[in-house]
Amino acid sequence: MPLEDFNEIVSKMTLEEKVSIVVGVGLPGLFGNAPSRVPGAAGETHPIERLRVPSAVFADGPAGLRISPRREGDELTYHATAFPIETMLASTWNREILEEVGRAVGEEVREYGVDILLAPAMNIHRNPLCGRNFEYYSEDPLLTGEMAAAFVRGVQSQGVGSCLKHFAANEQETNRFFIDTVVSERALREIYLRGFEIAVRKSKPWAVMSAYNKLNGKYCSQNKWLLTKVLREEWVFEDFVMTDWFAGDNPVEQMEAGNDMIMPGKAYQINPKRKDEREEILNAVKEGRLSEKILDRNVRNILKVLINSPSFKGYKYSNKPNLDAHARVAYKAGAEGVILLKNDGTLPISVDKRVALFGTGQIETIKGGTGSGDTHPRYVVSLLEGVRERGLKIDEELAKIYIKYVGEMRNREEYKVRWGVLGEFMPIVPRLPEGFLSEKDIERFAENNDVAFIIISRISGEGYDRRPEKGDFYLSDDERSLVDRISRIFHKYGRKVVAVLNIGSPVEVVSWRGLVDAILLIWQAGQETGRIFADIITGRINPSGKLPTTFPRDYWDVPSWNFPGEPRDNPQVVSYDEGIYVGYRYYDTFGVEPAYEFGFGLSYTTFKYGNLKVENTGNMVKISFEITKTGSFPGKEVAQVYIRAPRGVIDKPFQELKGFHKTSLLNPGETEKVEIEISVDSLAIYNGDRWIIEKGRYEVRVGSSSRDIRLIGSFTI
Ligand code: GLC
Repeated sequence: MPLEDFNEIVSKMTLEEKVSIVVGVGLPGLFGNAPSRVPGAAGETHPIERLRVPSAVFADGPAGLRISPRREGDELTYHATAFPIETMLASTWNREILEEVGRAVGEEVREYGVDILLAPAMNIHRNPLCGRNFEYYSEDPLLTGEMAAAFVRGVQSQGVGSCLKHFAANEQETNRFFIDTVVSERALREIYLRGFEIAVRKSKPWAVMSAYNKLNGKYCSQNKWLLTKVLREEWVFEDFVMTDWFAGDNPVEQMEAGNDMIMPGKAYQINPKRKDEREEILNAVKEGRLSEKILDRNVRNILKVLINSPSFKGYKYSNKPNLDAHARVAYKAGAEGVILLKNDGTLPISVDKRVALFGTGQIETIKGGTGSGDTHPRYVVSLLEGVRERGLKIDEELAKIYIKYVGEMRNREEYKVRWGVLGEFMPIVPRLPEGFLSEKDIERFAENNDVAFIIISRISGEGYDRRPEKGDFYLSDDERSLVDRISRIFHKYGRKVVAVLNIGSPVEVVSWRGLVDAILLIWQAGQETGRIFADIITGRINPSGKLPTTFPRDYWDVPSWNFPGEPRDNPQVVSYDEGIYVGYRYYDTFGVEPAYEFGFGLSYTTFKYGNLKVENTGNMVKISFEITKTGSFPGKEVAQVYIRAPRGVIDKPFQELKGFHKTSLLNPGETEKVEIEISVDSLAIYNGDRWIIEKGRYEVRVGSSSRDIRLIGSFTI
């Protein structure tokens, strides 16, 4: 229906009907609420039959559509593709990949009857221990914003909506429902809001989800400065804002602040102190405490978006998205997101090499994280299945030992997988001891094989943060003993040792990386993980991923030392004292050596950079250069452009990422000309109450990582 018709509809709506639009139906399928028409969806809006307004369905998540794969009494299945986690997608630095993944997810959202995907998640990697970092892209706001914008364009090209989350400064899980994030306006605008701003301006998402936490004392969902002044007046966002699930504590304030919709609704079902949001809003309007004009505004913001949704268009969805095609997209995206951190030439191995896989993660391969960012794919190809399927010479005796060990251990009470707070929503998976093999065993496997691969696995998820302890940020004693013994014994036989990191965010590596010949970071690559792994180690794919987040030498090097807030035992406030000095902005400026720097990633081959030209046209800076494929392997390169601003009156980071480009696959000897344009505005600093651009000489630093700078130029303002 055209806009004016629904304006007319709004004018026909009763007060009760308007209120039913701004509050969801409650958590579908739980607490006695009717299940969603798409079981497993996270939320639904109320229909208004009288006015032919249908309900709309919202579902998670960043690594793929999360809905129930099976339904009561229905022999069909409703699996969706498990794509690589967002941190791995960002590791591709490839906008086209993000858009392609967005298109594939968008098709599954549409064909399973969902209207808005509750993704991308795009908070900043402020601290490596945040439990949901796997769901976020990067420590850098430009990379975050560009990846999110590309993903949103892809999703929305399929006629369904995206929802940027969690807006904003929600960089931890500890006490997330009420923690107060205290952060300077400069750090907000230059770091924590910047990614959202880029995505809003570049991809026009249908919705934004306000975050659980308070921002400088005011819940994000009740924060008028955030939701009206910044988001709507400054960034000209014209669609609608929903709360995170059960967020905030005052529906009337949410309505006034510019939070159009309260999700999922019926907060009293999980918190007896809360009332029915609809009643609170209804009474506030009747008693003149909330102007009905505000309610009308919010209803209009919602309906003008939802009228474009498949549900409002009566789209007949098939329940048959093209999962085979999307599996190939998941594979391709993961293949470009793998990062080679160390390689003495051991990789790639020829397919006739005899391979010994160590680590329970070869069987319990981690496809992604837990919580709302989880997925339910048709299958997950484990690392062991992947190498077997590709026909590598696996030591099957060793494989069988691991299969037996995992099977037996998972049957023991103390190692059983248990369900977390909300059923299968957050499973608790006890870590299995990794040091069970004897020296004699390892001797035998060293004699019989050429290369050992040691899998180090980590999983985290919504609702809890990681810990700076052994078995989490640090290797456990049994993991370390496995690495020590395999390294000593395999090297005694002149064999090679490769560490494989199947993780969602950084672990400590400096204390043991000298023991291995290569380190492959495969993150959590979704359902195709095993195939991606096999094709990378045999060189079918040349790794081209680059770190979107720093690997610190030690946890205590991380600048956000007060994570997750004060008081330690039950944080109420987290103060971002490090300000804008997050990630490489801190390490580069204060001379702290990282284990592996932002933007770092090796290839099986090499690239030459040349011919840098820099031209300042007034409001744009044009930077062009050439990348030539040297070495014998075809490969892709991620060229990064950092700008080092002149020393002015205001402190600033040593350098900041201001542009990047992923080349196409270059054959040996081939050259690609790269042109990157940077708006002069993007160099501005927020000095507390306005944006200023310092005059002077700006250094252009083009590199293969933030510390491997290959070309240097400059321009002046
Ligand atoms: C969760 C998450 C949010 C998710 C929503 C619906 O608590 O914070 O990311 O989209 O609720 O599941």
